[in-house]
Amino acid sequence: MQALLKLFKFLRPHWRFTVMAPVLMLCEVVLDLMQPRMIQRIIDYGVARSDTQMVLGTAFLMLCFMALSGLCGLGCGYFAVRAAYGLGGDLRAALFRKVQTLSFGNLDNLETGALITRLTSDVNKVQEMVMMMMRGMVRMPLLMVGSLVMATVISPRLGLIFIVILPALTIALSMIIRKTFPLYRQVQEGLDGINTVLQENLAGVRVVKAFARSEHESLRFATANNTLIQRMTDAVRMSSRTTPVMMLTLNIGVVAALWIGAGQVQTGGMRVGELVAFINYLGQAVITLMMFSTLTIQISTAQASARRVLELLDSEPMLMTPTQKQQFPSRPSGKVVFDNVSFNYSSASQDMVLKNISFEAEPGQTVAILGATGSGKSTLVQLIPRFYDVSEGCVTLDGMDVREIPEEELRRHVGIALQESILFSASIKNNIRLGEPDASMEKLTTAARNAQADEFIRNIPDGYEALVGQRGVNLSGGQKQRLAIARALLLQPSVLILDDSTSAVDVQTESLIQEALERNSYRQTRFIVAQRISSVLNADKILVLDNGEIIAQGTHYELLEACDVYREIYESQTENGVLIYSGN
Ligand SMILES: Nc1ncnc2c1ncn2[C@@H]1O[C@H](COP(=O)(O)OP(=O)(O)OP(=O)(O)O)[C@@H](O)[C@H]1O
Ligand SMILES: [Mg+2]
Repeated sequence: MQALLKLFKFLRPHWRFTVMAPVLMLCEVVLDLMQPRMIQRIIDYGVARSDTQMVLGTAFLMLCFMALSGLCGLGCGYFAVRAAYGLGGDLRAALFRKVQTLSFGNLDNLETGALITRLTSDVNKVQEMVMMMMRGMVRMPLLMVGSLVMATVISPRLGLIFIVILPALTIALSMIIRKTFPLYRQVQEGLDGINTVLQENLAGVRVVKAFARSEHESLRFATANNTLIQRMTDAVRMSSRTTPVMMLTLNIGVVAALWIGAGQVQTGGMRVGELVAFINYLGQAVITLMMFSTLTIQISTAQASARRVLELLDSEPMLMTPTQKQQFPSRPSGKVVFDNVSFNYSSASQDMVLKNISFEAEPGQTVAILGATGSGKSTLVQLIPRFYDVSEGCVTLDGMDVREIPEEELRRHVGIALQESILFSASIKNNIRLGEPDASMEKLTTAARNAQADEFIRNIPDGYEALVGQRGVNLSGGQKQRLAIARALLLQPSVLILDDSTSAVDVQTESLIQEALERNSYRQTRFIVAQRISSVLNADKILVLDNGEIIAQGTHYELLEACDVYREIYESQTENGVLIYSGN
């Protein structure tokens, strides 16, 4: 209940609707409570005295009240929907904003699938629950107390029946709820299970097909689906016991009321109409109690959703923004220094991913990073734009610890083409100018030309306006990589990082890109992560990384002399002293 209540603060901007809904519900309840009283009038004063006028008049009044109560119900529904949907929209927006503020470390912990569920079905469930609570949570207690009061007013003695029946029913219902609740929780878990299977499969449907696993995956889905059906059946079977229990209690109550009431009617202590009205109120109270129990179950199953939403909402970004603002040059020279840096993704594991990394990159230098897969190359370069914070030591840009530079500023000066090129379903133009949305067309084409992307873009029918993604053009791996490079180049950053960004580009094109970078009019420090020796030949400094440690650094010729690992890599890529992969 607590998690759900905490989310109620999102109703504040919609307080008008939030207030209107219960007010109208109150009107509806009052009108509904009048109905049995009017039936009583018809019986006791109309029928008993054969007063047709009276019968017709009261019946007409009843109709009017019914219509009015219906209107109030509609209005309440409308306002409850407006308030709940408003809350849902705001909640989704808040969650989305939250995800944007999280750092890479947070995002590693929250799976994308789970994130999507939180922003869609979890929010929906909270929204639906708020709507039901706004209606049910007001209606039910009011109707219950109202019926009790009205019935007692009619006959205090018969009112005693309520005192016996309602607690008995409450005990019976809560016993059923206690058994049903775990079942519904299992249903929820089953639903989550199905979601996982679905998400994995829909995202990876190509792999499933490529490896002819369709049948196996269908079976996996069928199992999850059948489990869910079974659990749902169990839960519904258990909760369907409430109806007979309620009917039995109600009937016992009616019999008791008739038994006692009939005696009173005979002795003249009570009118027939009053007895009928009393039984009506009894029915209303019992049905309300049953609906209340159903609502309780639904609210408790929505708890899990509310908790998941809150968990995301309350998660704190792992990187803290610097507290004291320091002056940072508007155009840093691009000197990057790693001073005894060690890094680990989680503090739990002992073995460091990067160990005691120290090196300096002078402004304008090109630093290449070479090493086996998993040696920590990507990890190392991601510390420069501060995707993660170092565990020990420090990384500085222009002599300032990157932790003290505001994130936005830092990322404006550090351009990175990630190892996995990710494009958005937008035009090629907007994909390139992601970091600077109002970049001029001239700047855009220069960046594309330097990334050797301009030519192929112009060969696409719509050119720069062509849409990328599901409803647009599909690009090859190498084309995507070149767009990612253009995206980084557009920022004209002081530090440019290309993380294995030319792995899918042919060697000829790669050397064209390198030549274009050399011709750059502005000074730029470059980090190039690569697998091919040909990519790093001209670097001012090559770092050879092995298992998170720099085992050697120097120029190509220095390393050929001094580093066995480097020589081995070199020899594996040469034939009779000539590079196998070479531009010329
Ligand atoms: N987000 C992450 N969370 C936890 N561990 C990670 C994460 N990313 C990478 N690692 C681990 O850190 C180590 C270094 O990974 P890294 O991606 O830096 O290697 P790499 O040298 O770039 O490899 P490749 O050449 O394959 O790109 C690996 O053992 C990897 O399992
Ligand atoms: Mg990598």
